[in-house]
Amino acid sequence: MTGTAELSGGVVLRPLAPDDAEALAQAYTRNRDHLRRWEPRRAEEFFTTSTQARRVRDMLQARDEGRMFPWVLADGDRIVGSVNVNDIVLGAFRNGHLGYWVDGALTGRGLATAAVREVCRAATESLGLHRLQAGTLLGNHGSQRVLRKCGFTEIGVAAQYLLIDGAWRDHLLFQKILHDG
Ligand SMILES: CC(C)(COP(=O)(O)OP(=O)(O)OC[C@H]1O[C@@H](n2cnc3c(N)ncnc32)[C@H](O)[C@@H]1OP(=O)(O)O)[C@@H](O)C(=O)NCCC(=O)NCCS
Repeated sequence: MTGTAELSGGVVLRPLAPDDAEALAQAYTRNRDHLRRWEPRRAEEFFTTSTQARRVRDMLQARDEGRMFPWVLADGDRIVGSVNVNDIVLGAFRNGHLGYWVDGALTGRGLATAAVREVCRAATESLGLHRLQAGTLLGNHGSQRVLRKCGFTEIGVAAQYLLIDGAWRDHLLFQKILHDG
């Protein structure tokens, strides 16, 4: 999916664009409390347009090199979420790691589920991947529900898997074999 997909309520999923830095800085600032429990600790600079401009440049370079693919959820000029396929490895693996979030003011409307479905389609058809993996904190039942609704199945618990909100935390890992779905 290199174009734009309508999700619902005027929100679209589209590839990250070079001029998204300011809208991303605003989105992360608005969602600072909403995302804190689920993400790595962020330095103060993370919330500035200049840091987001560097992140956008790095992500677009990684995309051009086939290492990841970044999308955003957009509501007009506002960014209201993102979905990334990270750490793409081809060869005999053809695997990527999925990460996503939705603006705290717009949760519970099916946006994450619709966006992840689109990205699974793009990962199969455009990126040529065989498998997507995702990890959720054990208590992130909303995210686990999104993954199950999109056809992901549980692999199991990985102890001390990621450094989230300042501590190495256990995660429930999921996978989706893309040819089956
Ligand atoms: C998790 C997140 C992406 C879900 O986004 P969303 O747009 O609200 O998701 P959807 O509306 O598509 O679906 C949410 C589903 O989870 C369910 N859900 C939400 N909170 C839940 C909870 N605490 N327990 C059980 N189910 C829950 C909803 O009922 C819905 O399922 P349903 O359609 O069967 O009713 C969003 O809350 C978020 O950004 N959270 C913070 C960041 C994060 O956790 N990212 C994922 C990291 S793995």
